[in-house]
Amino acid sequence: MLIGASGSGKSTWAGTRYRGPEIVSSDALRAVVGSGEDDLDASADAFAVLDQIIAARLGRGLTVVVDTLGLDAQRRAAYLAAGRAARMPCVAVLFETPPQVCRERNALRDRSVPAGVLRQQLAKADAVGPIVESEGWDRVLRMRTPSPAGQTSSAGASHPMSEPGSQQVAAPIAEPGARHPREGYPEVILHVGRFPWGEDPVRWLTSIARAADDAGFAGLALMDHLIQIPQVDRAWEPIPEPWVALGLLAGLDTRLRLGTLVSPVTFRQPGIMAKAVATLDVLSGGRAFVGLGAGWWEREHLGFGVPFPSAGQRLDQLELTIETMRALWATGTKAHQGPRARLPETTAYPRPVGQPEIIVGGNGERRTLRIAAELADACNLPSELEVLDHKLAVLHRHCQAVGRDPGSVAITVLDLPVIGHDRDDTWRRVERLRGRSPAATFAKRHHAGEAAHHRDRYRVLAQRGVRTVFLALGDLESAEDVARVAPLLKP
Ligand code: UTP
Ligand code: MG
Repeated sequence: MLIGASGSGKSTWAGTRYRGPEIVSSDALRAVVGSGEDDLDASADAFAVLDQIIAARLGRGLTVVVDTLGLDAQRRAAYLAAGRAARMPCVAVLFETPPQVCRERNALRDRSVPAGVLRQQLAKADAVGPIVESEGWDRVLRMRTPSPAGQTSSAGASHPMSEPGSQQVAAPIAEPGARHPREGYPEVILHVGRFPWGEDPVRWLTSIARAADDAGFAGLALMDHLIQIPQVDRAWEPIPEPWVALGLLAGLDTRLRLGTLVSPVTFRQPGIMAKAVATLDVLSGGRAFVGLGAGWWEREHLGFGVPFPSAGQRLDQLELTIETMRALWATGTKAHQGPRARLPETTAYPRPVGQPEIIVGGNGERRTLRIAAELADACNLPSELEVLDHKLAVLHRHCQAVGRDPGSVAITVLDLPVIGHDRDDTWRRVERLRGRSPAATFAKRHHAGEAAHHRDRYRVLAQRGVRTVFLALGDLESAEDVARVAPLLKP
């Protein structure tokens, strides 16, 4: 809700921050339903259309910037109530532009507002601040225009897409340099789950890996599925066996850590999994890691003749796999007698040259997170803050129960952001990717926004103790998309 006298700069402010369709302007609608922006006879019709547009957009959870004078308390109350009903964050933006500046701007216009009318507006605007403060907006932003010679100082702030229920709203003032201290920032690993490699798989894979290394990613993780999953793409799109594909990437001259997120333990017998990871570790000079999960998609098992036992049995196998890997990676060749694995010998060469990290992924609170607390080096969780906080609490309880220092379990998250160059570009991507999901729901789920928005999110994740973000791009097509993400990798 913009609030300010004529010439206070409302439309200019909105135009540099929001997409055209997000702004509903009574002036613009006067020109649509009447003879022009100043056709006051068309006001009633223009406001009727305006109300309808606001209702329609709010109903879809879409951002709407109400560009009217905003000086009418009844109208403000109605829009605030509509925003509340739609459970959208409601923000009032007060334009505290000096009266003299408004008058000067008004005088320069083709059709100036009559002096007496402007005087009334300025008087109203002067008194409206405390009233607006008491109306119950989630935030009241005050836009102060400095002296006529100065410039407004609000350019460049970050503006996430509409996020109903979120505290995040357009920041009034950017403070370059102060927003992103160089500490408290997670490392970021590129998670590749779709493979639009056309005619040349090797070229595509290696170009993605090189671009990730150049951009400053800490590593590259491949998804491990036998059939492309519906959440990512169509079933007939290619998806490679990841440990073979990682072998190719290990031969490149990069510093990337390499592994999967996550390998279902149902796909490979425990010892074979240990062998694959150890081999990758040797080929990559100690850069291997392995994500492990219980597997969830029955279809790919059936289709490939791979047994898909009950969830309980698959979780047993997760425990068994971790224990077997650690036994086979340990020094010596002696027999192993553990709680789950019995091996008459542990003659397993090559051994890893580093210490491949075992990351347990999965959401099961009763067993998966307990297995992570008991046996894993790291635990992979969702990046949604509310979910993350809850899972972290559960994980910490499991750590206490098994007598492990929670700080010794590294926390990683899988994040699926939509990242645009600017607000228009972000929205285009949302529209292209959302499928049948409502745009606002999709934008919220994927934290749609520009790089600065995601950097802020990642700093918050670091504060929660997240060491690593696995970043998956729903629209990863080429190395250029990887390069596009580079600004997110630096705090
Ligand atoms: P706006 O047209 O943005 O004002 O700016 P407004 O608040 O929306 O006015 P009404 O209510 O629709 O009448 C008015 C003039 O001031 C200039 C703009 O270019 C425009 O000509 N302006 C605005 C600046 O020069 N600097 C600013 O920071 C903002
Ligand atoms: Mg205007």
